[in-house]
Amino acid sequence: MEVFSLLLLISFILYLFWRTGRRSKQFPPGPRPLPLIGNLLQFDMRNPLKDFDKLAQKYGPIFSLHMGGTLFVFVHGFPLVKEVLVTRGTEFAGRPQNPVIEVITKRKGIISVPYGQVWKEQRRFSLMVLRNFGLGKRSVEERILDEATVLMQSFEENMREPFDPFCFIDNAVTNIISNFLFGKRFGYDDHSLRNILDLVHQNMKLAAGLWAQLYNAVPLVRGLPLPHQTILNNAVKVMAFFSKELEEHKATLVSGEHRDYIDAYLEEMQKPENKGSSFEEEGLFIILSDLFIAGSETTSSTLLWALLYMMTFPEVQEKCQAELDAVLGNNSDIKYEDRDKLPYTNAVIHEIQRFANVVPLGVAHAPIKDMQLWGYTIPKEASVITNLISVHRDQSQWKYPYEFNPSNFLNEKGEFVKSEAFLAFSAGPRGCLGVSLARMELFLFFTSILRKFKLVWPDGSKVPDLTASYGITLSPPAFKMAIKCRRQT
Ligand code: HEM
Repeated sequence: MEVFSLLLLISFILYLFWRTGRRSKQFPPGPRPLPLIGNLLQFDMRNPLKDFDKLAQKYGPIFSLHMGGTLFVFVHGFPLVKEVLVTRGTEFAGRPQNPVIEVITKRKGIISVPYGQVWKEQRRFSLMVLRNFGLGKRSVEERILDEATVLMQSFEENMREPFDPFCFIDNAVTNIISNFLFGKRFGYDDHSLRNILDLVHQNMKLAAGLWAQLYNAVPLVRGLPLPHQTILNNAVKVMAFFSKELEEHKATLVSGEHRDYIDAYLEEMQKPENKGSSFEEEGLFIILSDLFIAGSETTSSTLLWALLYMMTFPEVQEKCQAELDAVLGNNSDIKYEDRDKLPYTNAVIHEIQRFANVVPLGVAHAPIKDMQLWGYTIPKEASVITNLISVHRDQSQWKYPYEFNPSNFLNEKGEFVKSEAFLAFSAGPRGCLGVSLARMELFLFFTSILRKFKLVWPDGSKVPDLTASYGITLSPPAFKMAIKCRRQT
């Protein structure tokens, strides 16, 4: 009997080796996978973006990799990415399984929820609350401008020496989303928020790294005390932070008076028609985490890149400042609607996003059933990765694909021109839920900073390092900047 069991075990292992060490011709082409781990160790997981480009050059705009038993399909370039996100957006609006993330989210919330009724309900509700955000005493615009004033004051207090703007920008941006979610802001020296943000940033790196991929690809390693456990431990601490906010809200909720997202959601949960629906407390937890994480690091990294590029390309900075001065004069407050009168500045903000590629690979999609794409079969359980950088570098779409050049968004008359190939927020049914808020934040923070300060590299500082640190987001390296006041107020 023991011999029989042993033979059975060996046959099973051999079967696994055989199954995971071959690729089907129906799937998009790609390198031969190794048994069990697939293509996992065949590229540099510290930053695989260059490897993905090389694979696209070798196999074409659609290729596939195996991570353990899971098929990853990569789509490159504007036409194919547009097909997945927009033209056939609903067919590819699913989310693949991602075991390490699922331990945390249990496929609830918004970002990792599969396509279907629950996702529609939760997305629609969150969009509705986001639209009404600021209908109360202060508009969203005023709240952002209030925060920008505090940010300017902090810059001014620190300007005697070159300083690292990271914490100030990170906290300012997080205060906007936390105002929306919890109805409050945190002081820039508040350690409770800093600690949480540090955990979130660490997880954004780890979740795209080797250990997370290993956890997903090889179930046997999941219980082992390896670095992937950090992701789970960090998530527990972040959830405890939300739990405190939630308990405080439950204790002080006044029916019909929504201070913020949590209040609106708690009221929605209590509606008789929502009994047994997807509006429940665990889901709320995950949405808080989704919106907090998606709404903070993305926007703060974009603004940090903005500061870096303005110091690196001083002529662009000066042109923005000249336009802002000419259109707004010295005294008037800036408003979001001024964007239409500021084509150059608007083009610069778009170019910062195009060039920085803060979410380089978007969020993985999945077909809602087995699908054909470019003549290949894409099974329902595959991860479809839309390479947004490849769209932002697509030579058929941009005048200067590899240069930082605001002319990418300007016509000969100097007017701002939109481009369908601008996909910093992705597009289609699963496109960024916070795009309107993020655009307003980027515009108001960026213009407030440039109107008030001239940004320069500190004397004697080294050649700027523009190498991004890879994770789910591409964040800039730590840097110091020197600032000079351009105007009072
Ligand atoms: C999804 C980019 C700010 C909430 C996404 C996606 C991208 C993105 C590329 C993936 C879409 C896809 O699956 O194809 C950005 C950038 C931002 C930003 C570059 C800032 C500069 C925000 C903000 C919020 C937010 C402020 C919250 C208020 C979300 C959510 C999703 C998402 C909830 C998932 C949507 C879904 O699965 O239906 N974002 N985002 N984002 N974003 Fe943003």
